[in-house]
Amino acid sequence: MQTLTRKRILVGITGGIAAYKSAELVRELVRAGADVRVVMTPAAKEFITPLTLQALSGNPVHHTLLDEAAEMGMGHIELARWADLLLVAPASADFIARLAAGMGNDLLTTLFLATQAKLALAPAMNEKMWLNASTQANVQQLQQRFPDLAWFGPDAGQQACGDVGPGRMLEPVGLAQLAASCFEQNVLTGRKVVITAGPTREAIDPVRYLSNHSSGKMGFALAAAAAEAGAAVTLIAGPVNLPTPDRVDRLDVVSAREMHEAAMAQLGAVDLFIGTAAVADFRPDTLADQKLKKQDGQSGMTLTLVQNPDIIASVAKAEQRPTSVVAFAAETQNLLEYARRKLDRKAVDWVVANDVSRQDIGFGQDHNEVVLVGKDSERPFGPASKHQVARWLIEQLSASFHA
Ligand code: C5P
Repeated sequence: MQTLTRKRILVGITGGIAAYKSAELVRELVRAGADVRVVMTPAAKEFITPLTLQALSGNPVHHTLLDEAAEMGMGHIELARWADLLLVAPASADFIARLAAGMGNDLLTTLFLATQAKLALAPAMNEKMWLNASTQANVQQLQQRFPDLAWFGPDAGQQACGDVGPGRMLEPVGLAQLAASCFEQNVLTGRKVVITAGPTREAIDPVRYLSNHSSGKMGFALAAAAAEAGAAVTLIAGPVNLPTPDRVDRLDVVSAREMHEAAMAQLGAVDLFIGTAAVADFRPDTLADQKLKKQDGQSGMTLTLVQNPDIIASVAKAEQRPTSVVAFAAETQNLLEYARRKLDRKAVDWVVANDVSRQDIGFGQDHNEVVLVGKDSERPFGPASKHQVARWLIEQLSASFHA
C-alpha cells in the first residue's frame, strides 16, 4: 500500500554514523509513494555521499544555504514551502542544540525555522550524549516551543561505538511508518475530488457580460487542501485571477453552461464533489452577434434572462452521482434555515454555510467563518484564513468517508 502517495518529504541528514541508514530511509519513503528531497549538513557528507541520496531520491541533494544556482531554482524558501513534512534523521546532538538556540546558520536549520510543514526529528547519538543534561534541556525546550514537533525515537540498544543504551536511530522501515502516521487517518489518498470555483460570465454581446464578485479563493484553497490530503483533484474554474495550486488539474471555463458541461463530463468515479462556484443563476436569452449600440434618444433597455442549469443539483441527482456532494450557501440572513432548505432542495450531502453580510469574511476576503451543515449535524469553524477553513473542511469531509 502506498501510504505516502504524493506526499512531499524533505529528509534532513546531519552528521552521525546513523546517516548510513538514511539511504534506506529515503528508499522506503520513495517506495511508499512519497516525493523525496534531501538536505545534508556539511558533517553529514563525511558519513554518506550526496550522490547516493541523489540516486535514491531521484532529486538533486541540497546542502548549502547560499547557493546562487539553487536560489534561482529551488532556494531555501521554495524548499520550505514545498515540503509537507520535514524529517531530520539522524538528528545529532549538535543539530538539536542549534535548533534549541533558534539558530539558522545552515540550510537545514533555516528550513526548520521557515517551513510550515509538519516537523519530525529522529535523534541519534551516543547514549551518554543523549542523556547529558544539556541535550535533555535542549529537547525539553524544543518540546515546549514546538508542541507539534514529532519525536521519532531514539531507540535503546547496542550502539555503533559499543555502548548500550538510548540513542540509536529507529530503523528506516519504522521511521517511514511514523512518517506516514503524521498524515493521520482522514486522508483522501486514492480519492477523486472535483471542485467548481469562481464566478461565471454570461455574455450579452461580444464585449459585455453579467457576472459577480466571486474571487475563487475558497475553491482554490479547497483544491490545494484536497491535493495535500492525497486526492486527485480537478478544479473547474470560472474567470479568476489565481495561480493553479500544485498537484491540481485545472479546467478553465467561462459561462455557467460550460461549467455545467465540464462538471457532468467528470462524473464516473468521483468520490467528492464540492461546488464553491458563484454560478450565475440567469443568462441573457439571446447573445447579440455584434456589440449592442445605443440608439439616439434611447432611455433604457430591457434584457430578458433565462435560467441557467443548477450545476450542483444536476450533479447530486445524476445517475453517476459522486459519493458525497457539497454545496456552499452564501446567505445574508437566516443562515442555518436556508442552508437546511438547500440541503433538501439540491439533494446534497453537506452545505457549507457562510454569512456574506459581514465585511470581514466571505466574498473576496482572505478569511471565512463557516458552519458545515449535514443531515443531522451542524459544525461551526472560524473565523480563520480560507486555507485553514479549507483544511478543516477537507478533514471533516474525509472523516465522513472513513466513518
Ligand atoms: O442556490 P444557490 O446559488 O444559493 O446555491 C449555492 C450553491 O449551489 C453553491 O454550491 C453553488 O456552487 C451551487 N450552484 C450551482 N449552479 C447554479 C447555482 C448554484 O452549482 N446554477
